[in-house]
Amino acid sequence: MYDFKIETENKAELYRQLNQAADSLTDGEPDAIANMANIAALLWESLPDLNWAGFYRNVGGELVLGPFQGRAACIRIPFGKGVCGTAASTLEAQCVEDVHAFPGHIACDAASASELVVPVVHEGELIGVIDLDSPRTARFDSEDVAGCLALARILAPRLASVEKQDPKR
Ligand code: SME
Repeated sequence: MYDFKIETENKAELYRQLNQAADSLTDGEPDAIANMANIAALLWESLPDLNWAGFYRNVGGELVLGPFQGRAACIRIPFGKGVCGTAASTLEAQCVEDVHAFPGHIACDAASASELVVPVVHEGELIGVIDLDSPRTARFDSEDVAGCLALARILAPRLASVEKQDPKR
């Protein structure tokens, strides 16, 4: 049983503990899907005020839904479309205070008000994105961006095996 108790009011400390847990959960495990599934569960359990937490994978230059927690979501997102597709095409984190004001935002759950998407890049190649949605406007700030970018750096080599699992890539 994994029992990570991440309880702190301090956001930097929260991400320190979360990323430590993410590191030990994925250490030595080469299966990308298993790692994404566990990290989606960890994010969902550890971060307050979320209505969606999970992954989209780069499959042949298109984002395809990966393991997540939350409501069923759109399956395929072209690069450049929506918040996820923008993170994929720019390779930059997208921290959106109000998704309704984001041109081209893809509404998977009408409850979503703000969103944070960070790219996961390994050896110069986009592996996928981490996507967090919140029902609260401006839920995410620079500390969330820094914490999730640090998470993406830890995960990148441990999610890279997706590449080998899909012959289209
Ligand atoms: N809102 C995202 C789509 C994915 S869902 O939020 C799970 C976007 O605009 O890319």
